Amino acid sequence: MKIGNVQLNNKVFLSPMAGVTDLPFRLICKEKGCGMLYTEMINAKALCYDDENTKKMLKIEDEEHPIAVQIFGSEPEFMGKAAAIMNEYPNEILDINMGCPAPKVIKNGDGSALMRNPKLASEVLSSVVKNSKKPVTLKIRKGWDDDSVNAVEIAKIAEQCGISALAIHGRTREQFYSGKADWDIIEQIKQTINIPVIGNGDVFEVEDAVNMLEKTKCDAIMIGRGAQGNPWIFKRINHYMETGEILPEPTLEERITTAIKHMNLAVAEHGEYVAVREMRKHIGWYLKGLKNSAKYRDQINKITDYKEVIAMLEEYMEHSLTQIR
Ligand SMILES: Cc1cc2nc3c(=O)[nH]c(=O)nc-3n(C[C@H](O)[C@H](O)[C@H](O)COP(=O)(O)O)c2cc1C
Repeated sequence: MKIGNVQLNNKVFLSPMAGVTDLPFRLICKEKGCGMLYTEMINAKALCYDDENTKKMLKIEDEEHPIAVQIFGSEPEFMGKAAAIMNEYPNEILDINMGCPAPKVIKNGDGSALMRNPKLASEVLSSVVKNSKKPVTLKIRKGWDDDSVNAVEIAKIAEQCGISALAIHGRTREQFYSGKADWDIIEQIKQTINIPVIGNGDVFEVEDAVNMLEKTKCDAIMIGRGAQGNPWIFKRINHYMETGEILPEPTLEERITTAIKHMNLAVAEHGEYVAVREMRKHIGWYLKGLKNSAKYRDQINKITDYKEVIAMLEEYMEHSLTQIR
């Protein structure tokens, strides 16, 4: 499939997730067959003000392509300027966030709050498209709340403004991440607009991916929480679509080896202090549901030396494999 002039490897993408889809996790997802990566959301205004921390979040490695950088903001001028700045970066696609429900984002009118103001949304989209040399995509929610479901209206505006693909998360802002994602809205949007539609929400298993693609006829799917501690989901979905065969779940050994690799990438990228703390949630996800892992997880949450974290993971693997043998 293609977005604008960008050819994608496959139709299973990684959702942008603040605090999760940093460089190390993206590299792991890419290695496991993800069709397109997204960065964490980047504050357009901070980018315009040359903020050092924001620029650090924009580091992209050669292995990551194709990759979309996601920006957020609601001031057409700053969003346009941010798009122009991004022309100098190596990402293939520039994505706009119109779905974030976080109070600190919506209080400025950004993220999902922008869906409440279609006129301003249209100005933001036009400004970004005008200033970007790359295809611009948009990620939205179903609407603000059940009384203001306007995803179809925003999708039409996006198409008119020259957006090259639209990702839709089937929940309202009011829902945050609760309840079930509404896949009917994805289907409705797919029937309404002619640009590629990326379905999103509640894909946790290979079967979910197949069901979403079949039900909504969307062109690609985007996986967020289902990839946390489970980057194998990309390979498993692609393998099923190519062969009709469901690959087994990763073994305990594969999980731990990947967690260790992820830890090493995180230390190289963020330094030991940040990496050890950032990795606690990822390790919790890698170990989730594994027998006798709770004790090790609790200990890892207290350790501050990364070599000790790795030793603890190796000890858990050794302990578990001895029990199997
Ligand atoms: C921890 C976390 C951070 C997120 N950050 C972003 C973000 O920066 N930009 C965005 O568009 N969506 C963000 N999302 C929403 C996801 O991209 C996705 O739309 C949502 O989780 C639903 O998909 P899922 O059911 O596959 O998780 C975030 C979700 C989570 C759980």
